[in-house]
Formats: sequence, C-alpha cells, structure tokens
Amino acid sequence: MCGIVGYIGDGNASEIIIDGLKKLEYRGYDSSGIAIFNKGKLEVRKYKGRIANLEAAIAGEHFESKIGIGHTRWATHGAPSDVNAHPHSNMDQSIAIVHNGIIENYVELKEWLIKEHQVAFNSETDTEVIAHLISVFYEGDLVDAVYKAVEKMRGAYGIGVICSKEPDKMVAVRKDSPLVVGLGEGCNFIASDIPALLKHVRKIYLIENNETVVLTENNVKIYNADRKEVKREVFNVTWDADAAEKEGYDHFMLKEIHEQPKGIYETLNRRLDDNGMIKLDGISLTKEELDRFNKVYIVACGTAYHAGLVGKFVIEKLAKIPVEIDVASEFRYRDPFVDDKTLFIAISQSGETLDTLAALREAKNKGARILSIVNVVGSSVARESDDVFYTWAGPEIAVASTKAYTTQLVCLYLIALYMGYTKGVVEDATYHKYIEELKAVPDKLREVLAQEEQIRNIAKELYKREQVFFIGRGLDSGVSYEGSLKLKEISYINSFAIAAGELKHGTIALIEQDTLVIALATQDRLFEKMLSNIQEVKARGAYVIGLAKENNREIEKQSNRVIYIPECMDEITPLLSVVPLQILAYDIAKLRGCDIDKPKNLAKSVTVE
Ligand code: F6R
Repeated sequence: MCGIVGYIGDGNASEIIIDGLKKLEYRGYDSSGIAIFNKGKLEVRKYKGRIANLEAAIAGEHFESKIGIGHTRWATHGAPSDVNAHPHSNMDQSIAIVHNGIIENYVELKEWLIKEHQVAFNSETDTEVIAHLISVFYEGDLVDAVYKAVEKMRGAYGIGVICSKEPDKMVAVRKDSPLVVGLGEGCNFIASDIPALLKHVRKIYLIENNETVVLTENNVKIYNADRKEVKREVFNVTWDADAAEKEGYDHFMLKEIHEQPKGIYETLNRRLDDNGMIKLDGISLTKEELDRFNKVYIVACGTAYHAGLVGKFVIEKLAKIPVEIDVASEFRYRDPFVDDKTLFIAISQSGETLDTLAALREAKNKGARILSIVNVVGSSVARESDDVFYTWAGPEIAVASTKAYTTQLVCLYLIALYMGYTKGVVEDATYHKYIEELKAVPDKLREVLAQEEQIRNIAKELYKREQVFFIGRGLDSGVSYEGSLKLKEISYINSFAIAAGELKHGTIALIEQDTLVIALATQDRLFEKMLSNIQEVKARGAYVIGLAKENNREIEKQSNRVIYIPECMDEITPLLSVVPLQILAYDIAKLRGCDIDKPKNLAKSVTVE
C-alpha cells in the first residue's frame, strides 16, 4: 500500500514529486525515493525512513529533470532499508520503476531472470523483478516492453516507469492497486491517490484495471489490455485542497475528530429531503427488492468493521432481517453462504482495501447485490459496487480513522431506517423519532468536544499504563472494540476489548489491583447490568473510567472517573460515545510522544492481503 507519484512537464520534477509524496505518506512511510534525470543521466535516490530523510539527502542539489517518479513505501517483501526502497532499476540503470502492490509470482520470475538472462538482483523486494522484466523485453519501445512484462506478472500493481532511452515519456499500469492520472497545463501526473495532485490539478482520469497509460508533457493516452486506446471521462475533483491540510491543529487526527459534527451533518443532510425522508438518489432498493433479500452480509476491516458491528445491531432491529458480519480477510477464504438473495454491504473509507475489495468480488460472483459505504469517490470499491452510499467525511489523512467511522455509522442508520420503513416494519413515528435524534447529533457532539480539557486531564493520569481493558454491553460492546483499537494503534498500549458479560468467562483472571478498565455504560436498558460488571472488576481492585449518559449519575459510585455524553436514544449512542474514546487515545498517545498521524507499522490504505 505504498504511494507513487510521477511527473512530466515544464516544472521542477524532484520538488513536485517530493511534495506529492508527502501528501501520500499515510500510505506507507518506512522509506522513500525518486528517480530523476541529472545532467542527462537517470539517477535514483532512495533512503530508509521518512520522506524528510530523502529531502535532507538531496538538499542543495539542483536537478534539471522535467520527468521523474517517486515512491513512499510500506514494506511487504524485504525489510525497510535503502536498498529495498523504490525506485528500482534494471542492471544498466536505464529503466526505473515505482510500484504499489505485490507481485505474487516474483520468486518464479526472479529465478527465470537469473537463469535465462543472468540478471543480478540488488534488493529483496518483489518489485525489482518488474524493472528487470521490462529491461529484458526492451527493444527500443518502452510501451511494448511494459506490456510484455505485465503479461508475465501475477498480483496487484500500480506501476510508474521511466527510461533514459525515451526521456520524454512515462508509462504507468494499473491492476488491483489504485492509480490516477492528473491532467495539467503543459504537464501531467500519475499518483496512487488524488491528494498527491490537488495542489496542481483538479482534472483527473481514474485508471481502470489492466489499463496502461502513456504520458508525455502535453498528452495522455490510455490503452486497454489489448493495446486499444480507450477514452476516459475527466473526473473533476471538487474538494477543497485545504481540507487535506492541518488548519492549525497539531495533528490530522485531532482535526478530523473535530470535523465529525460537520461530516455527520453532511452525510445525513445529503440523504434527507425537507420532510426528513431518505433520498436514494439513483440507488435502486425498491420494496420488492428488499422483500427478496433474506439476509444482509456486512464485510469490512478494522474500524470499518467496527462500524459494521453497530450496523448489524441497527439493521436487525429496524429492518427485521438477519445480518451476518465478518472481517474481509476471513470472509473470502471460507465458503460464505451468499447468493442472489443476499444484500452485501462493504464498508471502506479508502475504497481501496484489498481484502474488502476481494470479498466484494467474491460476493458478486455468488450473485449478491453489492451496496457499499465508501468515503473516497471513484475508488475501486465504489466502482465495483452496484450502489454506493457515500460518507461525506472529506479526505481522512490520519492513519487512525475517526470521522470515517462516525459517518459510516450515519450511513448504516440511514440504510437500516430506509429498509425498515420501506418494508413497512418501522412505523412513521419511530422513523421520525430516529431522524430527529440523528439530526441532533452534530450539536450534541459539539458538547462532547467541549469536554476535551477534562478528557485530557484523565489522559494525564493514564498515559503511563501499559494495559487497558474496554468493556461494554450491547452497542457499547461494539464501540469498546473501536475505542480499544484507537488506543492501541496510536499509543502502543496493550489494549483489549471484551463484551462485559463475557468477562467472567475467563478474562477477569487478568483483572487485579489497579488494572485500568474503561467501562462503557451508555445503554439505559443495560445500565444496571453494566453496573454489576463494573462492580465485579472494582471488587478485584480495578481502576475504572466510566462512560455514561449524563443522567445516569449512579455510575459515579462505581467509577474512579466518569465521562458523560448528552442524553439520546440508546440506539444512537455510538455516534457520541466513540468520540471521548478517540480524544482519550489521542491525548494519551501525545503524552507518550508517539507519532500520532503515522503510527509505526501501519498505513492508511491497505492494498495488500
Ligand atoms: C484504524 C483504521 C483501519 C481501517 C482499515 C480499513 O484506525 O483506520 O483499521 O479502518 O484498514 O480501511 P478502509 O476503511 O479504508 O477499508
């Protein structure tokens, strides 16, 4: 899930590429590099560590290059190191390539290249085979050589290629890894994601699978696998480039936490008419279609999966249809019971998560109807779905997902309500009660955000802990998983979530004097049961942070500290209760001196299995 950027035009290629790479650093950041021309010679500079290392290493040098490719890496094959960093070159260094994805048959190709072409390899990466393959097929035509190389490759790839023998041309190919082309005036770009290009262009070509792109300074041509030229409509990006900047916040994560009232408002309002009725705007889900479905299957990864846990609860409750849920990486390797009576809901912020995409394809092959919840317009998941419910969170840059989760929840509430109401199992009054409650969320969330200082004080008490348990019942149990993931991924504290009622079946053995327990008790109907669970851990000496609705003050007697959320229906508490947990995770990670927006070993968009 690395990031690639390529530039050809009149500007300073190295500066433009490095700037673009910085916008993609969330895709991977264990090493980075560029290939550019220096006094007519193709040169590769690449270094382990952040892009700042690359910048520092070439500071003071002036490259005249009008063309170049760059890469920021998240290691799959071969440890992070200078030599494993991209770009990779062929033996005479006339060809340089950058690659995002995995070449599955690279061992076989490597053996073939060594045996048949006496190739000497430098790195441990799968990617290096691509440079050598192109090289052995090169007979004066780069495009032809790339086509021949790609025919031999299995796996996923977004590739950018340049060649010193054809210095006025860049070639790019896409298969199962994202690739976009930016169309400028007297210049053109490639990138694995749109934010890398927003400073320079708004006109984009979204490249499809198995397409090859040939870029010159003034021209972009797209060809299919049969080498036939294809026409592509220009996709105009309407986001504000500033949305991808920090706007005064210390970190993108904090900015994105604060953007949640707006994201929820936008996601809701774009789907509601003046009477509060849900607009499908082109999505076809008639009563007949809904009645035909006998099951909903929700599939996603990580935080998006946690949103799905809440989705299961609300869809079953409101639409009265069984909902199964699975993490995408497991779904595809079972023989899941999915057919043409299944409504398959894929949830993905990036729309590029390979596991989710593969699960979606599996469900599609089995005849399921695919409805996705996606943040990135034009992403692979969006394009391969029958219908898309977009979240209007805006670009999410921090690796730890926040506003994507809450806007995904909004979509799930809307889908559940729409299904229930259309099927006639949700009455008018209930429908409108939910809509009113949802509409009130942005303001209530601002009240939660106003408690930031108090949450920060709690973080100051907790940040040296090395172990935390999150417990909750019902919807709170789903939110516990998300709270726990947020904390562990950015603060590296060993954090564990468990349904509170399940604790006594084994895990309670770990609770001892001073163990930290974060207890979510926002469900009125389960409040007393939760108090009993809190007592169970208190009796064993736990230090408890309670989270409850503001009228349920009883919790103060059982907890060392309490965070309150405003009163609301039990069913929509996840939209509010997750936010103090996001802030707590953020503050704890900050106090521990962690790299919050780019936690170790992670990347924003996971385009490998
Ligand atoms: C955690 C996080 C990840 C993602 C997961 C799926 O904060 O961001 O767990 O939720 O990798 O990513 P998307 O939603 O892009 O499919």
